[in-house]
Amino acid sequence: MSQDVFFPRVETERLILKPLLPSDAPGLLAIFSDAEVMRYWNTAPWADVQEAIAFIEKSNESMRGQQSLVLGIWLRSTDELAGKCMLFSYDKASRRAEIGFGLARSCWGRGYISEAGEALIQYGFDSLGLRRIEAEIDPANQASAKALGKLGFSHEGLLRQRWEVNGVVSDSAIYGRLLSDHPARHG
Ligand SMILES: CC(C)(COP(=O)(O)OP(=O)(O)OC[C@H]1O[C@@H](n2cnc3c(N)ncnc32)[C@H](O)[C@@H]1OP(=O)(O)O)[C@@H](O)C(=O)NCCC(=O)NCCS
Repeated sequence: MSQDVFFPRVETERLILKPLLPSDAPGLLAIFSDAEVMRYWNTAPWADVQEAIAFIEKSNESMRGQQSLVLGIWLRSTDELAGKCMLFSYDKASRRAEIGFGLARSCWGRGYISEAGEALIQYGFDSLGLRRIEAEIDPANQASAKALGKLGFSHEGLLRQRWEVNGVVSDSAIYGRLLSDHPARHG
């Protein structure tokens, strides 16, 4: 597969999705140092810009290795970095990947993930040849569960006591969307 497939620029009505550059680190840190944004993550909020730089470097390395797709989300109207979305745990043979997303708190509730997520999903089906996209979330993360529902994912099950972070044990809710699930949405 061409390397370019893992470094796309995807445009939607209100958003631009494209790979992150080291110069985006301060903007990314501002979003992911927010404890509310990181509430359901399995890592602590980022504490300094080095973590953002390391994330961007690691993302670009895994994209060069054709293992994942990590894209920043920008608002077209203001050029503001709103968050990131990704397809990771890419399994080429089984044509599956996992989806993840996070937005700055100021950008919640405006349907941006419906828009960015659908564009990323279509890109995954069309350009990576995916057949299945899955998501794993904390069952308490209602915003995420609702966003996945709006994106056409089915709730497939619960993995009990899957995580233990700082002594807190939590379950994982598993969601999936297949290429064959919503033919009308696809192309
Ligand atoms: C999850 C997240 C990406 C959703 O993005 P979003 O752009 O706000 O999603 P939408 O605007 O499409 O909203 C989705 C739905 O969730 C609802 N919602 C938003 N915040 C909510 C909350 N705290 N509790 C319950 N529902 C909530 C919205 O009202 C909307 O429902 P509606 O269409 O019926 O009004 C965003 O909340 C976020 O970045 N959260 C922090 C990071 C995170 O938890 N990521 C997921 C980890 S896998």
